[in-house]
Amino acid sequence: MAESRSLDELSSIVQRSLSTINGALKEKGLPQPSFAHGGPTTFTLPDGLDQARTEALEAIDEIQALLRGPIDYLFYRGILAALEIGTWDLLTQFSVPQHLGADETLSYAELAQRAGLPEDDTRRIVRGALSLRVFEAVLPPSGDGGEEKVRHNALSWTLATVPEAASFLRLVSHATDAARHAAEVLRKWPEGPTAPSGADASQCGFALAHGGRGLFDWARDHPDAETDFKSAMTMQSLAPGFAVSVAAEAAALDADGKQVPETIVDVGGSAGTLAKAFLRRYPGIRSAVVQDLPGVVATSRQAGVEPEFAGRLRFAPYDFFQDQPVHGADAYLFRTILHDWSDVQAAEILRRQVPALKPGARLLINDFVVPSVGAHTHVRDQSPRAYDLLMRVVCNGKERSLDDWKRLFAAADPRYEIVGVRMPPQAKLSIIEVVWRG
Ligand SMILES: C[S@@+](CC[C@H](N)C(=O)[O-])C[C@H]1O[C@@H](n2cnc3c(N)ncnc32)[C@H](O)[C@@H]1O
Repeated sequence: MAESRSLDELSSIVQRSLSTINGALKEKGLPQPSFAHGGPTTFTLPDGLDQARTEALEAIDEIQALLRGPIDYLFYRGILAALEIGTWDLLTQFSVPQHLGADETLSYAELAQRAGLPEDDTRRIVRGALSLRVFEAVLPPSGDGGEEKVRHNALSWTLATVPEAASFLRLVSHATDAARHAAEVLRKWPEGPTAPSGADASQCGFALAHGGRGLFDWARDHPDAETDFKSAMTMQSLAPGFAVSVAAEAAALDADGKQVPETIVDVGGSAGTLAKAFLRRYPGIRSAVVQDLPGVVATSRQAGVEPEFAGRLRFAPYDFFQDQPVHGADAYLFRTILHDWSDVQAAEILRRQVPALKPGARLLINDFVVPSVGAHTHVRDQSPRAYDLLMRVVCNGKERSLDDWKRLFAAADPRYEIVGVRMPPQAKLSIIEVVWRG
């Protein structure tokens, strides 16, 4: 990665990129980004500005590091990690944002009473959250001796009204528990998910924190957690870099006069967000099957299918360590599935698809392709690195480089051929297109 840049250089990058973004917003008559009370819960950048945003975020991150220096940087990041972990946990466990109405302004005593928490703790939790830009403080005019109160801003309102956001933070809390065992994991199972002896999904921090059981094995017996996990996956699909609409576009099923698949299977598809994005983007797809574990499928069926997908989408139970039951589909999608598993188990999942594949069938893998060091800037590099560490400690899985993917498919079956890898600039996950040459 590049040497540090000078403050002069950094400040002109920030100025240039922000003025590009600002100019585009003005030209299109779009509002300024804001976390203010009543503001929107999403900020969508107009097309073509991803590079400007990336450059601004990268430069600002570098400025934050440089202006602190090594000691203060370490000290600050450590303290911040504690503040963030504790705050997300407390806000979601006690549903603090949900206890505040859209346009209400409450004292800490009133909020405490609704949340069933002591007033002093409520004040401390909310003030910590305020420092992370969650909630808005309503301060008494100086010197009038009045009471400090709190109301929503766009971020706390998101936490209050987007259930998937709270689910995602609860998943992060599980991941944090697992990460606390990282050193123990490496001591106990140094061979890791790449070695044949490191295949087992229970060789991870999650299992150390949950009576020896791997994440998905444990979740089967904890239906609430399983449903929460599904909701967290939906949140992931809403995050701009992980947007399923971007993945569907990147799949380029209709590029170069290709025949759009009529039938697709979303393997381990959870709530089916990816399958739905494909159905929206490619009207030629006649039928999509979303497969997952029986508990996940049961709640999806209960929730029902939106009218726009009626007759084209169904949910079906399938354990991907068994033979694929849907034979002859045109494409099988795997979004953030194989990264959950060791090489041995990921290869087994791929082999279990083989009996169902017709010649020319496609597998579309929507996962990280881990860049080499230096290929990305620091901020852009943080997502794949974070996921890679989390996969190791949460489920004994791993994020894979292109060479890792090639090795994995070759080990699963040499009749799999990787024919393309695509990643739009705004995406974090790639689409790896694989054709079955059997
Ligand atoms: C990381 S999530 C990805 C979900 C979805 N593809 C997405 O990206 O939103 C992994 C999914 O695999 C499912 N899963 C785990 N073990 C499975 C198994 N043995 N068979 C089928 N699905 C499984 C989980 O229930 C979960 O929905």
